[in-house]
Amino acid sequence: MRVIVTGGAGFIGSHIVERLLSAGHEPVVIDNLSTGQRSNLPAGVRLYEVDVRQPDAVQQVFEEVRPQAVSHQAAQMSVSLSVREPYFDAEVNVMGLLSVLRAADRAGVERFVFASSGGVLYGDVFAPAAETHPADPVSPYGISKWVGERYVQFYATNTAMQGLALRYSNVYGPRQNPHGEAGVVAIFCQRLLRGETATINGDGRYVRDYVYVTDVAEANLNALTKPTLEPFRPYNVGTGRGVDTNQIAAAIYEECVRRVGASRRIPELLRGPARAGDLRSNLIDASRANQDWGWQPQMPFEQGLQQTVGWFHAQATPHG
Ligand SMILES: NC(=O)c1ccc[n+]([C@@H]2O[C@H](COP(=O)([O-])OP(=O)(O)OC[C@H]3O[C@@H](n4cnc5c(N)ncnc54)[C@H](O)[C@@H]3O)[C@@H](O)[C@H]2O)c1
Repeated sequence: MRVIVTGGAGFIGSHIVERLLSAGHEPVVIDNLSTGQRSNLPAGVRLYEVDVRQPDAVQQVFEEVRPQAVSHQAAQMSVSLSVREPYFDAEVNVMGLLSVLRAADRAGVERFVFASSGGVLYGDVFAPAAETHPADPVSPYGISKWVGERYVQFYATNTAMQGLALRYSNVYGPRQNPHGEAGVVAIFCQRLLRGETATINGDGRYVRDYVYVTDVAEANLNALTKPTLEPFRPYNVGTGRGVDTNQIAAAIYEECVRRVGASRRIPELLRGPARAGDLRSNLIDASRANQDWGWQPQMPFEQGLQQTVGWFHAQATPHG
């Protein structure tokens, strides 16, 4: 099956590309390389360096590629940037999505998978939230994901294209961009391995549901290929297990120390002020993905962290 992966040169998108290849499919990438990198892509994968905000250029790619399915990962994904620049957020996350949806419909795409977010849709939840939990997004980024799902649903109910939304929890793993404001794992790994200080905000008791990126790629493969009866269906993609920032920071610290051995000192973790608006707890229940597809997270947390720290260590080490 030929699949257009928008944002395929980014963190999650590039793992989806790899998984599609290993399952014998043909991924083709649309990415403007704003946060993604060509080097994230396996050799031989076609990359169209196109901005999803350019509907004509997007349409041209669809006419050329004629994909059967789309995995739409391209987005601006910073909550705080969306608060500072809601207009830009909507341009990329709403108008960009619409340009891809319209091109997909016109090209006769059969299935459209949309990267949504359980974190921003459900807000503060202290027990794993199912898909039926009411959505109450508070940031422009959250609003754009919520409205994005509604647009996918609109197309799915009014055209021949089926739609699925995958509501990820906090995704971590190799290739995550540590320069953004999301992705505490990537930020901690990169800073500590470079010998830079890393700061835990507030009391560090902010509980998140960390899901490993290859498990997210597997959920995308299921969403793209498994039979579906409804025109539109949202799925949570997470572990349901909570880990707080203190725990994850300590585990990363230990793993960094183990990696570098006696060769270098890893700076002690620092404490800083709490960030306004940070959720206390966010957990999601992925039973539906398990029931419909038999999907469940395969990567044990400790092993996922080891692999992530290992990857950042190799990046930080010349010839590593
Ligand atoms: N990382 C997480 O924990 C998480 C959680 C929930 C949802 N998501 C969603 O998953 C998707 C992928 O996120 P990620 O973590 O891989 O981020 P990322 O920044 O690594 O990937 C986004 C990709 O989209 C590309 N892109 C951005 N704007 C574009 C534009 N205008 N035109 C074309 N390409 C553009 C970027 O270059 C990048 O390659 C996003 O939709 C994000 O909102 C991520």
